[in-house]
Amino acid sequence: MTDLTTVRDDLRIRPATAADAPRIFENIGHWAQQNRMLVRPLTSIFENLRDFYIAEVQNERGDWVFAGNASLHILWGDIAEIRGLAVAEGVQARGVGRALVEACETEARSVGIPFVFAWTYEVGFFERCGYNVIEKSRELHPRLWSECLRCPFFVGCNETGVQKRLDGVPIPSNLPEPPAAQIPPGIK
Ligand SMILES: CC(C)(COP(=O)(O)OP(=O)(O)OC[C@H]1O[C@@H](n2cnc3c(N)ncnc32)[C@H](O)[C@@H]1OP(=O)(O)O)[C@@H](O)C(=O)NCCC(=O)NCCS
Repeated sequence: MTDLTTVRDDLRIRPATAADAPRIFENIGHWAQQNRMLVRPLTSIFENLRDFYIAEVQNERGDWVFAGNASLHILWGDIAEIRGLAVAEGVQARGVGRALVEACETEARSVGIPFVFAWTYEVGFFERCGYNVIEKSRELHPRLWSECLRCPFFVGCNETGVQKRLDGVPIPSNLPEPPAAQIPPGIK
């Protein structure tokens, strides 16, 4: 994982540490309460802490302060999912979300994963970051279906799937077939 990336003089991205987990939990919880994303238990944040990046911005006093979080979760040898993307209240529209997405993409590249995926209500934002909408169909990667079927919000889910093919990252030639997901009836 990349140690520390200075995106701009006043914006930087670093891997999360254990001390960040409560702040990540609070930030995701804040937006989940407004139905902007799904809630994430603190246990899940600790268990997946090495997936997370933290964005920090410099305030007027010159201190670096928390500005958001995102994680990249590898699902198979060709696909990884951005999860828990949340920019702190009051820091929107300053490039923090894009910087977090780019950090996840850099991580995917560094481990040779060619596709990055996300479930989101913020399709416009992801399109600005170069993502395309993926239909919920059998075309969805089987590992995404497997994860979906375990999700407590599966029934009635109205998030949209978005995906990006990373330029210059080949699809690994030795990929085994992923385990087949039990796709529910009615999905074409
Ligand atoms: C959605 C979110 C991640 C965007 O982050 P942000 O820091 O505000 O966005 P950025 O400043 O990085 O914007 C990058 C680009 O996307 C555009 N954009 C941002 N939010 C957008 C939206 N809701 N719809 C369309 N475009 C949007 C910006 O105008 C900018 O465009 P540009 O290419 O002209 O520069 C952030 O607002 C957020 O955390 N929201 C609440 C939680 C949430 O919805 N999380 C997403 C879960 S998947």
